[in-house]
Amino acid sequence: MKFKAYLVDVAESGDVKATFTDRSIDDLPKGDVLINIHYSSLNYKDHLSSSGHRGITRNYPHTPGVDGAGRVLRSKDSRFKEGDEVLVTGHDLGMNTSGAYAQCIQVPSDWVVPMPEKLKMEEAMIYGTAGFTAGQCVEQLVQGGVRPEDGPILVTGATGGVGSVAVAILSGLGYEVMAATRDLSNKEFLLELGAAGLVDSATLIDDSSKPLLKSRWAGVVETVGGGLLETAIRSTQRRATVTFCGMIASPELNTSVYPFILRGLRLIGIDSAECPINLKKLLWEKLAGDWKPSTLSYLGKTLSWEHIPEELEKIGEGKTRGRVVFALPLLDVSNF
Ligand SMILES: NC(=O)c1ccc[n+]([C@@H]2O[C@H](COP(=O)([O-])OP(=O)(O)OC[C@H]3O[C@@H](n4cnc5c(N)ncnc54)[C@H](OP(=O)(O)O)[C@@H]3O)[C@@H](O)[C@H]2O)c1
Repeated sequence: MKFKAYLVDVAESGDVKATFTDRSIDDLPKGDVLINIHYSSLNYKDHLSSSGHRGITRNYPHTPGVDGAGRVLRSKDSRFKEGDEVLVTGHDLGMNTSGAYAQCIQVPSDWVVPMPEKLKMEEAMIYGTAGFTAGQCVEQLVQGGVRPEDGPILVTGATGGVGSVAVAILSGLGYEVMAATRDLSNKEFLLELGAAGLVDSATLIDDSSKPLLKSRWAGVVETVGGGLLETAIRSTQRRATVTFCGMIASPELNTSVYPFILRGLRLIGIDSAECPINLKKLLWEKLAGDWKPSTLSYLGKTLSWEHIPEELEKIGEGKTRGRVVFALPLLDVSNF
Protein backbone atom coordinates (compact mmCIF):
# COMPACT_ATOMS: atom_id res chain seq x y z
CA MET A 1 0.00 0.00 0.00
CA LYS A 2 1.47 3.29 -1.15
CA PHE A 3 1.20 6.84 0.15
CA LYS A 4 2.92 10.15 -0.57
CA ALA A 5 5.65 11.59 1.64
CA TYR A 6 8.16 14.43 1.71
CA LEU A 7 11.53 12.71 1.94
CA VAL A 8 14.80 14.40 2.90
CA ASP A 9 18.18 12.84 2.17
CA VAL A 10 21.55 14.11 3.33
CA ALA A 11 24.73 13.11 1.48
CA GLU A 12 28.08 12.46 3.23
CA SER A 13 29.14 15.91 1.98
CA GLY A 14 26.21 17.42 3.92
CA ASP A 15 24.28 18.30 0.75
CA VAL A 16 20.55 18.04 1.34
CA LYS A 17 18.06 16.82 -1.26
CA ALA A 18 14.32 16.67 -0.67
CA THR A 19 11.60 15.13 -2.86
CA PHE A 20 7.87 14.43 -2.78
CA THR A 21 7.77 10.71 -3.35
CA ASP A 22 5.81 7.46 -2.98
CA ARG A 23 6.40 5.37 0.14
CA SER A 24 5.01 2.06 1.29
CA ILE A 25 3.40 1.24 4.65
CA ASP A 26 6.25 -1.28 5.07
CA ASP A 27 8.69 1.68 5.12
CA LEU A 28 7.09 3.00 8.31
CA PRO A 29 8.40 2.08 11.77
CA LYS A 30 6.47 -0.42 13.87
CA GLY A 31 3.64 1.09 15.90
CA ASP A 32 0.16 0.28 17.24
CA VAL A 33 -1.69 3.00 15.36
CA LEU A 34 -1.62 3.77 11.64
CA ILE A 35 -2.93 7.28 10.93
CA ASN A 36 -3.91 9.00 7.70
CA ILE A 37 -2.58 12.54 8.12
CA HIS A 38 -4.85 15.35 6.89
CA TYR A 39 -2.90 18.31 8.29
CA SER A 40 0.60 18.93 9.59
CA SER A 41 2.37 22.15 10.57
CA LEU A 42 5.65 24.05 10.58
CA ASN A 43 7.94 24.12 13.59
CA TYR A 44 11.54 25.22 14.06
CA LYS A 45 12.48 21.59 14.77
CA ASP A 46 11.21 20.61 11.29
CA HIS A 47 13.67 23.08 9.83
CA LEU A 48 16.50 21.51 11.85
CA SER A 49 15.53 17.95 10.86
CA SER A 50 15.12 18.83 7.19
CA SER A 51 18.47 20.61 7.01
CA GLY A 52 20.46 17.60 8.24
CA HIS A 53 20.86 18.52 11.93
CA ARG A 54 22.13 15.23 13.41
CA GLY A 55 21.19 16.32 16.94
CA ILE A 56 17.56 16.07 15.82
CA THR A 57 17.64 13.34 13.15
CA ARG A 58 20.40 10.71 13.10
CA ASN A 59 19.54 8.76 9.95
CA TYR A 60 18.44 9.80 6.48
CA PRO A 61 16.50 9.47 4.20
CA HIS A 62 13.85 10.74 6.58
CA THR A 63 10.41 12.35 6.58
CA PRO A 64 10.16 15.35 8.97
CA GLY A 65 6.96 16.71 10.54
CA VAL A 66 6.67 16.76 14.33
CA ASP A 67 2.90 17.43 14.27
CA GLY A 68 0.06 15.58 12.62
CA ALA A 69 -3.73 15.51 12.74
CA GLY A 70 -5.77 12.91 10.92
CA ARG A 71 -7.92 9.79 11.08
CA VAL A 72 -7.04 6.36 12.37
CA LEU A 73 -6.67 3.78 9.62
CA ARG A 74 -5.80 0.77 11.83
CA SER A 75 -5.20 0.34 15.54
CA LYS A 76 -3.97 -2.55 17.68
CA ASP A 77 -5.03 -0.55 20.75
CA SER A 78 -8.73 -0.78 21.59
CA ARG A 79 -8.78 2.89 22.72
CA PHE A 80 -8.69 3.86 19.04
CA LYS A 81 -10.78 2.63 16.14
CA GLU A 82 -10.81 3.21 12.40
CA GLY A 83 -12.02 6.70 11.50
CA ASP A 84 -11.29 8.33 14.89
CA GLU A 85 -9.92 11.85 14.61
CA VAL A 86 -6.61 12.09 16.48
CA LEU A 87 -3.54 14.25 16.83
CA VAL A 88 0.10 13.55 17.54
CA THR A 89 2.62 16.19 18.56
CA GLY A 90 6.16 15.71 19.78
CA HIS A 91 7.59 12.51 21.25
CA ASP A 92 9.92 11.23 18.54
CA LEU A 93 7.60 11.98 15.61
CA GLY A 94 9.50 13.67 12.77
CA MET A 95 12.80 13.31 14.60
CA ASN A 96 13.90 9.67 14.34
CA THR A 97 10.39 8.36 13.64
CA SER A 98 9.02 8.99 10.16
CA GLY A 99 7.04 12.23 10.49
CA ALA A 100 3.79 13.84 9.44
CA TYR A 101 4.94 15.47 6.20
CA ALA A 102 3.35 12.35 4.73
CA GLN A 103 -0.11 10.95 4.18
CA CYS A 104 0.58 8.19 6.76
CA ILE A 105 2.39 7.80 10.06
CA GLN A 106 2.59 4.76 12.34
CA VAL A 107 3.22 5.42 16.03
CA PRO A 108 2.89 3.93 19.54
CA SER A 109 -0.63 4.44 20.88
CA ASP A 110 0.70 6.35 23.90
CA TRP A 111 1.67 9.20 21.59
CA VAL A 112 -1.86 9.56 20.23
CA VAL A 113 -4.31 12.14 21.63
CA PRO A 114 -8.02 11.84 20.77
CA MET A 115 -9.11 15.03 18.99
CA PRO A 116 -10.97 17.17 21.54
CA GLU A 117 -14.63 17.53 20.60
CA LYS A 118 -14.45 21.30 20.19
CA LEU A 119 -11.35 21.27 18.00
CA LYS A 120 -11.14 20.76 14.24
CA MET A 121 -8.10 18.94 12.81
CA GLU A 122 -6.94 22.12 11.09
CA GLU A 123 -7.25 24.14 14.32
CA ALA A 124 -5.24 21.51 16.19
CA MET A 125 -2.46 22.08 13.68
CA ILE A 126 -2.69 25.88 13.97
CA TYR A 127 -1.69 25.18 17.55
CA GLY A 128 0.68 22.27 16.77
CA THR A 129 3.76 21.78 18.92
CA ALA A 130 4.36 25.53 19.09
CA GLY A 131 0.83 26.22 20.35
CA PHE A 132 0.93 23.30 22.75
CA THR A 133 4.22 24.67 24.08
CA ALA A 134 2.57 28.08 24.53
CA GLY A 135 -0.21 26.24 26.40
CA GLN A 136 2.32 24.67 28.75
CA CYS A 137 3.83 28.12 29.42
CA VAL A 138 0.38 29.53 30.21
CA GLU A 139 -0.34 26.59 32.51
CA GLN A 140 2.91 27.29 34.41
CA LEU A 141 2.05 30.98 34.81
CA VAL A 142 -1.37 30.06 36.17
CA GLN A 143 0.07 27.38 38.47
CA GLY A 144 2.66 29.91 39.66
CA GLY A 145 -0.21 32.09 40.87
CA VAL A 146 0.26 34.84 38.26
CA ARG A 147 -3.11 36.57 37.88
CA PRO A 148 -4.20 39.15 35.27
CA GLU A 149 -4.33 41.88 37.94
CA ASP A 150 -0.69 41.27 38.97
CA GLY A 151 0.76 43.24 36.07
CA PRO A 152 2.14 42.84 32.55
CA ILE A 153 3.32 39.59 31.00
CA LEU A 154 6.26 39.72 28.60
CA VAL A 155 6.18 37.41 25.57
CA THR A 156 9.39 37.30 23.50
CA GLY A 157 9.77 36.14 19.89
CA ALA A 158 6.17 37.30 19.77
CA THR A 159 5.59 36.88 16.03
CA GLY A 160 6.91 33.29 16.11
CA GLY A 161 4.83 30.15 16.62
CA VAL A 162 5.09 29.83 20.40
CA GLY A 163 5.08 33.59 20.95
CA SER A 164 2.06 34.42 18.80
CA VAL A 165 -0.10 31.68 20.34
CA ALA A 166 0.99 32.75 23.84
CA VAL A 167 0.03 36.37 23.07
CA ALA A 168 -3.39 35.24 21.82
CA ILE A 169 -4.18 32.88 24.72
CA LEU A 170 -2.96 35.18 27.48
CA SER A 171 -4.74 38.26 26.17
CA GLY A 172 -7.91 36.18 25.77
CA LEU A 173 -7.60 35.23 29.45
CA GLY A 174 -7.45 38.90 30.42
CA TYR A 175 -3.68 39.36 30.91
CA GLU A 176 -1.94 42.54 29.79
CA VAL A 177 0.57 41.22 27.27
CA MET A 178 3.67 43.10 26.13
CA ALA A 179 4.91 41.54 22.89
CA ALA A 180 8.67 41.67 22.30
CA THR A 181 9.69 41.45 18.67
CA ARG A 182 12.70 42.34 16.53
CA ASP A 183 10.42 43.81 13.91
CA LEU A 184 8.00 46.51 15.02
CA SER A 185 6.35 46.51 11.58
CA ASN A 186 4.38 43.53 12.96
CA LYS A 187 2.50 45.91 15.23
CA GLU A 188 -0.90 45.44 13.56
CA PHE A 189 -0.61 41.63 13.67
CA LEU A 190 0.34 41.57 17.37
CA LEU A 191 -2.27 44.12 18.44
CA GLU A 192 -4.88 42.10 16.53
CA LEU A 193 -3.85 39.04 18.58
CA GLY A 194 -4.57 41.06 21.70
CA ALA A 195 -1.16 42.46 22.73
CA ALA A 196 -1.50 45.60 24.86
CA GLY A 197 1.75 46.96 23.45
CA LEU A 198 5.01 46.14 21.68
CA VAL A 199 8.63 46.21 22.86
CA ASP A 200 11.66 46.21 20.56
CA SER A 201 13.63 43.06 21.49
CA ALA A 202 16.96 44.77 20.83
CA THR A 203 16.29 47.59 23.30
CA LEU A 204 15.01 45.14 25.91
CA ILE A 205 18.38 43.45 26.34
CA ASP A 206 20.47 44.86 29.20
CA ASP A 207 24.16 43.92 28.95
CA SER A 208 25.14 45.47 32.27
CA SER A 209 26.37 43.32 35.13
CA LYS A 210 23.55 44.50 37.44
CA PRO A 211 22.12 41.37 39.12
CA LEU A 212 18.65 42.94 39.38
CA LEU A 213 16.91 45.42 37.07
CA LYS A 214 13.74 47.48 37.43
CA SER A 215 10.88 45.25 38.52
CA ARG A 216 8.51 45.02 35.52
CA TRP A 217 7.00 41.67 34.62
CA ALA A 218 4.51 39.58 36.60
CA GLY A 219 5.28 36.72 34.26
CA VAL A 220 7.32 35.96 31.15
CA VAL A 221 6.98 33.57 28.21
CA GLU A 222 10.52 33.58 26.83
CA THR A 223 11.04 31.77 23.50
CA VAL A 224 14.36 33.09 22.17
CA GLY A 225 17.06 32.51 24.83
CA GLY A 226 20.33 34.38 25.35
CA GLY A 227 20.21 38.07 26.34
CA LEU A 228 16.39 38.21 26.29
CA LEU A 229 16.10 35.39 28.82
CA GLU A 230 18.94 36.74 30.97
CA THR A 231 17.39 40.21 31.03
CA ALA A 232 13.87 38.90 31.71
CA ILE A 233 15.11 36.94 34.73
CA ARG A 234 16.50 40.17 36.23
CA SER A 235 13.41 42.27 35.41
CA THR A 236 10.53 40.58 37.19
CA GLN A 237 8.26 41.54 40.02
CA ARG A 238 8.38 39.54 43.25
CA ARG A 239 7.16 35.93 43.00
CA ALA A 240 6.95 36.06 39.22
CA THR A 241 7.15 33.02 36.92
CA VAL A 242 9.44 32.98 33.89
CA THR A 243 8.94 30.11 31.43
CA PHE A 244 11.50 29.43 28.72
CA CYS A 245 11.53 26.95 25.84
CA GLY A 246 13.91 28.02 23.06
CA MET A 247 17.51 28.74 22.27
CA ILE A 248 17.47 30.40 18.86
CA ALA A 249 19.70 33.21 20.14
CA SER A 250 21.87 31.05 22.42
CA PRO A 251 21.88 27.82 24.46
CA GLU A 252 23.90 29.56 27.21
CA LEU A 253 22.33 31.01 30.33
CA ASN A 254 24.38 33.38 32.48
CA THR A 255 22.61 34.52 35.60
CA SER A 256 22.99 34.80 39.38
CA VAL A 257 21.00 33.57 42.35
CA TYR A 258 19.73 37.09 43.23
CA PRO A 259 16.43 37.07 41.27
CA PHE A 260 15.62 33.72 42.86
CA ILE A 261 16.49 34.45 46.49
CA LEU A 262 15.57 38.15 46.59
CA ARG A 263 12.43 38.12 44.41
CA GLY A 264 11.33 34.50 44.78
CA LEU A 265 11.43 34.00 41.01
CA ARG A 266 10.22 30.67 39.54
CA LEU A 267 12.16 29.77 36.39
CA ILE A 268 10.42 26.97 34.52
CA GLY A 269 11.91 25.09 31.56
CA ILE A 270 9.34 23.71 29.14
CA ASP A 271 9.66 20.32 27.46
CA SER A 272 6.69 19.71 25.24
CA ALA A 273 7.97 16.69 23.30
CA GLU A 274 7.94 14.31 26.27
CA CYS A 275 5.05 15.87 28.16
CA PRO A 276 3.25 13.00 29.96
CA ILE A 277 0.21 11.88 27.98
CA ASN A 278 -2.35 12.62 30.72
CA LEU A 279 -1.14 16.22 31.08
CA LYS A 280 -1.05 16.45 27.30
CA LYS A 281 -4.71 15.42 27.01
CA LEU A 282 -5.70 17.86 29.77
CA LEU A 283 -3.91 20.78 28.10
CA TRP A 284 -5.40 19.94 24.69
CA GLU A 285 -8.86 20.08 26.27
CA LYS A 286 -8.04 23.56 27.64
CA LEU A 287 -6.70 24.64 24.23
CA ALA A 288 -9.95 23.43 22.65
CA GLY A 289 -12.08 25.05 25.36
CA ASP A 290 -11.62 28.08 27.62
CA TRP A 291 -8.19 28.99 26.29
CA LYS A 292 -9.11 28.95 22.60
CA PRO A 293 -8.50 32.48 21.31
CA SER A 294 -11.05 34.09 19.02
CA THR A 295 -8.04 34.96 16.81
CA LEU A 296 -6.92 31.34 16.31
CA SER A 297 -7.69 31.23 12.59
CA TYR A 298 -6.12 34.70 12.15
CA LEU A 299 -2.77 33.55 13.54
CA GLY A 300 -2.52 30.51 11.28
CA LYS A 301 -2.44 30.15 7.51
CA THR A 302 -3.10 26.88 5.71
CA LEU A 303 -1.06 26.03 2.62
CA SER A 304 -0.96 22.95 0.43
CA TRP A 305 1.99 20.69 1.25
CA GLU A 306 3.90 21.72 -1.90
CA HIS A 307 4.89 24.81 0.11
CA ILE A 308 6.81 22.75 2.68
CA PRO A 309 10.34 23.43 1.26
CA GLU A 310 10.01 27.23 1.06
CA GLU A 311 8.33 27.48 4.49
CA LEU A 312 11.10 25.35 6.06
CA GLU A 313 13.62 27.80 4.66
CA LYS A 314 11.70 30.83 5.96
CA ILE A 315 11.45 29.54 9.52
CA GLY A 316 15.20 28.83 9.44
CA GLU A 317 15.75 32.50 8.58
CA GLY A 318 13.42 33.68 11.38
CA LYS A 319 10.95 35.04 8.80
CA THR A 320 7.82 33.09 9.80
CA ARG A 321 4.95 35.01 11.32
CA GLY A 322 2.32 33.14 13.31
CA ARG A 323 1.60 29.51 12.49
CA VAL A 324 1.77 27.66 9.18
CA VAL A 325 -0.42 24.60 8.56
CA PHE A 326 0.11 22.18 5.69
CA ALA A 327 -2.86 20.41 4.08
CA LEU A 328 -1.83 16.94 2.89
CA PRO A 329 -3.33 15.58 -0.36
CA LEU A 330 -6.34 13.33 0.20
CA LEU A 331 -5.55 9.62 0.35
CA ASP A 332 -7.81 6.96 -1.14
CA VAL A 333 -8.23 4.90 2.04
CA SER A 334 -10.37 2.21 0.44
CA ASN A 335 -7.20 0.11 -0.17
CA PHE A 336 -6.06 0.25 3.45
N1 LIG B 1 11.14 23.20 24.64
C1 LIG B 1 10.18 22.81 23.85
O1 LIG B 1 9.44 21.86 24.13
C2 LIG B 1 9.92 23.57 22.58
C3 LIG B 1 8.74 23.40 21.87
C4 LIG B 1 8.51 24.20 20.73
C5 LIG B 1 9.48 25.09 20.33
N2 LIG B 1 10.64 25.17 21.04
C6 LIG B 1 11.68 26.13 20.66
O2 LIG B 1 11.16 27.42 20.97
C7 LIG B 1 11.69 28.36 20.05
C8 LIG B 1 10.55 29.11 19.40
O3 LIG B 1 9.80 28.21 18.61
P1 LIG B 1 8.82 28.78 17.52
O4 LIG B 1 8.08 27.62 16.98
O5 LIG B 1 8.06 29.92 18.10
O6 LIG B 1 9.85 29.32 16.44
P2 LIG B 1 9.62 30.46 15.35
O7 LIG B 1 8.23 30.36 14.81
O8 LIG B 1 10.77 30.37 14.43
O9 LIG B 1 9.67 31.81 16.18
C9 LIG B 1 10.81 32.25 16.85
C10 LIG B 1 10.75 33.77 16.92
O10 LIG B 1 11.88 34.22 17.67
C11 LIG B 1 12.33 35.46 17.11
N3 LIG B 1 13.72 35.24 16.67
C12 LIG B 1 14.15 34.42 15.70
N4 LIG B 1 15.50 34.48 15.60
C13 LIG B 1 15.90 35.34 16.53
C14 LIG B 1 17.17 35.84 16.93
N5 LIG B 1 18.30 35.42 16.36
N6 LIG B 1 17.22 36.72 17.93
C15 LIG B 1 16.09 37.15 18.52
N7 LIG B 1 14.86 36.73 18.17
C16 LIG B 1 14.77 35.83 17.21
C17 LIG B 1 11.42 35.79 15.96
O11 LIG B 1 10.36 36.58 16.48
P3 LIG B 1 10.37 38.19 16.33
O12 LIG B 1 10.75 38.47 14.92
O13 LIG B 1 8.97 38.58 16.68
O14 LIG B 1 11.35 38.71 17.31
C18 LIG B 1 10.85 34.45 15.57
O15 LIG B 1 9.63 34.56 14.92
C19 LIG B 1 12.55 27.56 19.06
O16 LIG B 1 13.88 27.58 19.51
C20 LIG B 1 12.01 26.15 19.19
O17 LIG B 1 12.97 25.18 18.84
C21 LIG B 1 10.87 24.44 22.14
